[in-house]
Amino acid sequence: MRVVLLGAPGAGKGTQCKRIVEKYGVRHLSSGDILRKERAEGSELGAQAQSYMDSGKLVPDELIVKMMAGAIGKAPQAGYVLDGFPRTVHQAQELDKSLTSDGRKIDAVVDLKVNEQIIMERMTGRRSCPKCGAVYHLKNLKPKVKGRCDHDGTELVQRPDDKPEVVKKRLETYYEQTEPVVGYYKKNGRVLEVDATGGADEVSARLFGMLDALAGK
Ligand code: AP5
Repeated sequence: MRVVLLGAPGAGKGTQCKRIVEKYGVRHLSSGDILRKERAEGSELGAQAQSYMDSGKLVPDELIVKMMAGAIGKAPQAGYVLDGFPRTVHQAQELDKSLTSDGRKIDAVVDLKVNEQIIMERMTGRRSCPKCGAVYHLKNLKPKVKGRCDHDGTELVQRPDDKPEVVKKRLETYYEQTEPVVGYYKKNGRVLEVDATGGADEVSARLFGMLDALAGK
């Protein structure tokens, strides 16, 4: 199964992707996580991406398309769920081109819908583990021990781009450059809209209902 998960920053894409991976055995390909790993490792790509990410802007298409083509090329037979990519119409076109040339296609494009007030609450309350990437929330998804990752005990941090002023910029960037991607896929009648309000379990139930139907379960 090959799925594209769209949605505004903080809509819950990463949270739902982890659950999709557990249920369907596909690989989670998050452009944001890959970029953060590159930064942590001090790679040239990480250094090139840093200033864009910290100011809420998009990293240039040519860097992202190449990076994601590499990740998709290494995905298992079971498939993948794309999180944060494509994020511009150009990226979507490049993805379509590369899939067509390999005789493959995306099975579902899902758009997580949630309002801006909820987005702000989710992003400003998010805390992440810098070591394993696990994601928590100060109110909605607390770790067992305050401020520590459940998996490895590492101190949780706030992502630099989750500060309110950067969140505002990321939302502007989303409306300008990423919302048109929904329109791009809608033209082909390929978008499944999922109400992403409510708790993570409620959202998963809605999402899995659609993906199960698609997988013929
Ligand atoms: P990226 O990491 O992709 O960030 P994003 O798309 O802005 O998404 P987020 O990771 O912020 O949110 P999410 O939807 O995954 O929400 P989450 O599940 O964590 O990108 C970061 C940057 O990298 C970009 O700004 C850009 O610079 C660059 N970049 C990445 N991809 C790029 C591309 N393709 N092109 C160019 N540049 C690119 O949930 C958020 C919080 O809410 C968590 O605390 C969670 O616990 C909580 N939560 C989740 N669901 C629920 C729920 N149902 N109820 C209550 N709480 C919930």
